[in-house]
Amino acid sequence: MQLPPDLRQAIEEEASRPSLQLLQAASESLSRGYRRLPIPRERLISSENERIAYIATRLPATYASASRVAEEILARIPGIEIESLLDLGSGPGTAAWAASNSFPTLRRVTLVERDSDFIELGQRLARHSQSPALREATWRNADLSVLDDYPEHDAVFISYAIGEVSPTAIIRIIGRAWSACKKVIAIVEPGTPRAFSRILVARQELIALGASIAAPCPHQTDCPMSGGDWCHFSARIERSSLHRRAKSGTLPYEDEKYSYVVATRCAVQRAPSRVIRHPMKLKGHVRLELCGGCGLICKIVSRRTKDQYRAARKSEWGSPWPFPDE
Ligand SMILES: C[S@@+](CC[C@H](N)C(=O)[O-])C[C@H]1O[C@@H](n2cnc3c(N)ncnc32)[C@H](O)[C@@H]1O
Repeated sequence: MQLPPDLRQAIEEEASRPSLQLLQAASESLSRGYRRLPIPRERLISSENERIAYIATRLPATYASASRVAEEILARIPGIEIESLLDLGSGPGTAAWAASNSFPTLRRVTLVERDSDFIELGQRLARHSQSPALREATWRNADLSVLDDYPEHDAVFISYAIGEVSPTAIIRIIGRAWSACKKVIAIVEPGTPRAFSRILVARQELIALGASIAAPCPHQTDCPMSGGDWCHFSARIERSSLHRRAKSGTLPYEDEKYSYVVATRCAVQRAPSRVIRHPMKLKGHVRLELCGGCGLICKIVSRRTKDQYRAARKSEWGSPWPFPDE
């Protein structure tokens, strides 16, 4: 996946202001902040150079995972039309950019962010967007933990934000976000055990509120992951030369690991199972790790079962597996 040209150009314009040295130092300071455990409650991104480092080095990855989640919404909720989007903890508006690219029916966008400088940066980026909904978006400067009235929208995204609030605030935020959601809500987090535990809290709360889980789970019962295992996926994003220079990296791409949950008020078409690890495509058979209605299973698909074998050869980590459990 690549960033769309309008977003790439907007980022390059912003990133041309600080020197490369300052950008690399800010990017290193950001990475150190994210590696610190537990994530401190004080703001992780506090200077203008760190905000610019974020859009140059982290935004491409969070854009990739939000885009994957948006694709999954369209696949699991057939016929859904998303005309309005609420991006909570928006930072520079990453999820709104991903949604405006994935949902052609999008007409109205509201973003809520507590850091007013991030809002200003996001507004400058949005001016470059091809999407009128994003160019004319409403930005609200507010703290999600204390804001009472989340405005109603078809879709609500909370992308890489609940990790920065306390566990009790997560429950409150999910409750208000669900009330504001007319069709679908998506919560995306990094693909780490710690972040996955927050996804599980959100999933449980959404089920308690009456939501239907649409993805990635093929069921609505307790999550079978345990014993140090965690449900996560991977999205590959091409690195631009700016991205490589800012991160002092050489690889032309980056694999972003992410965890997520999508819940909805609409009718869901869940796949019977989901591939939860890289399939092992061996000679004459494929070994699949699946999560399905009967929990976690390891399935060996041999070339004797023609349809299944063909599907298994094509499958990827995160793909739905269309055959019912045997
Ligand atoms: C890691 S950034 C993610 C930005 C963007 N959503 C993305 O996916 O790239 C987390 C953002 O959430 C915002 N945030 C964290 N806690 C918040 C709160 N309580 N209220 C509003 N925004 C919050 C931070 O200011 C920051 O901009």
